[in-house]
Amino acid sequence: MFGGVYRNKRVLVTGHTGFKGSWLCKWLNHLGAEVFGYSLNPSTEPNHFDLSNPKVNSHINNIQDLNSVRDFITKIEPEIIFHLAAQPLVIESYKEPLETFTTNVIGTANILETARYIDSVKAVIIITTDKCYKNKECIYGYRETDELGGYDPYSASKACTELVTESYKNSFFKEDNTGLLIASARAGNVLGGGDWTSNRIFKDIAIAASEKEKLILRNPESIRPWQHVLEPLSGYLLLGQLLFQNRKEFAEPWNFGPSYNSNITVRELVNIVKKRWNDIEVEFEKPKIYESKYLMLDSSKAYNKLKWNPVWGIDLTVNNTIDWYKNYYEKKIVKTDDQIENFIQDAQKNKLSWALDVT
Ligand SMILES: NC(=O)c1ccc[n+]([C@@H]2O[C@H](COP(=O)([O-])OP(=O)(O)OC[C@H]3O[C@@H](n4cnc5c(N)ncnc54)[C@H](O)[C@@H]3O)[C@@H](O)[C@H]2O)c1
Repeated sequence: MFGGVYRNKRVLVTGHTGFKGSWLCKWLNHLGAEVFGYSLNPSTEPNHFDLSNPKVNSHINNIQDLNSVRDFITKIEPEIIFHLAAQPLVIESYKEPLETFTTNVIGTANILETARYIDSVKAVIIITTDKCYKNKECIYGYRETDELGGYDPYSASKACTELVTESYKNSFFKEDNTGLLIASARAGNVLGGGDWTSNRIFKDIAIAASEKEKLILRNPESIRPWQHVLEPLSGYLLLGQLLFQNRKEFAEPWNFGPSYNSNITVRELVNIVKKRWNDIEVEFEKPKIYESKYLMLDSSKAYNKLKWNPVWGIDLTVNNTIDWYKNYYEKKIVKTDDQIENFIQDAQKNKLSWALDVT
């Protein structure tokens, strides 16, 4: 997979103790990479990092601290960096706007500034979000060429992260001889087992379904690009491979969204779970903050140029997410490794190039 580039590579994942970061570390373990992590301690109990227990050389410190970031990266000499560490929540960003901007924007600048001086680093993938686009309540998906923006501090911080990334690329890594390529990746709302972060929809659904509690939700008609966590991770890993192989044409921003029919409303998502798990009693509350109604990504560029495609549609995404939480709540079994294997097998059946080793 991924041209075999990850075997024995020194890979740094920032945000490794978080939901997406811990799934990425597990996948990198499968790929034979030597994995390093830089983050804060897990912020919830339980959490996917502790439950899935990836093999990681873990460093716990603040990404805002340039000296600490520099010392760690200088010491470990990574070849590929996936930068996921961030304050990732819209609601939290209203409560702590400065902390959100400092972590997300300065944290990213700290990574790029450090990578400039470390010769071992060949590829940096900066993870932003679908929310980095100026939301015009469009009923079509945003493309990489659309205007950046952000109403709330989280979205604005991620748009700034994109600008910082572009600026570093243009200012310091444009020459052919720098040996370091940078890309950014924008994905949608991820589902998957093991996310207990506040205000994440499936955590609330899973608790309501397993404990038979009432589910309180806001914005039932909001449409979101739901996708399984492994979908964008396959895109990040593919980008990491191509940049490591010095494919300069891929050092750009990329959308990794779901296929069109996975863009469903919050109410439709809950209805699928009600049919397949338990009948949940749902109450919709009036939202206290502004959140966009429509948010979709157009991933045509990734489909056409990277030959990347989603593997699981909305059905398999929801089924696998339910399966993960059911196993955890009913049997204390963690299904992460099995689901990574199943995802890879399905990608191979779908003849996706990253899974077939032909890129
Ligand atoms: N979960 C989603 O639906 C989603 C969607 C789009 C983009 N993203 C992006 O993906 C990335 C990972 O998100 P997630 O859902 O795994 O979030 P998460 O909250 O589960 O994980 C965040 C990680 O960042 C680390 N972190 C936070 N502040 C830090 C700081 N000051 N110093 C060092 N580390 C710090 C945490 O320790 C944790 O490891 C983020 O960049 C987020 O913006 C997530």
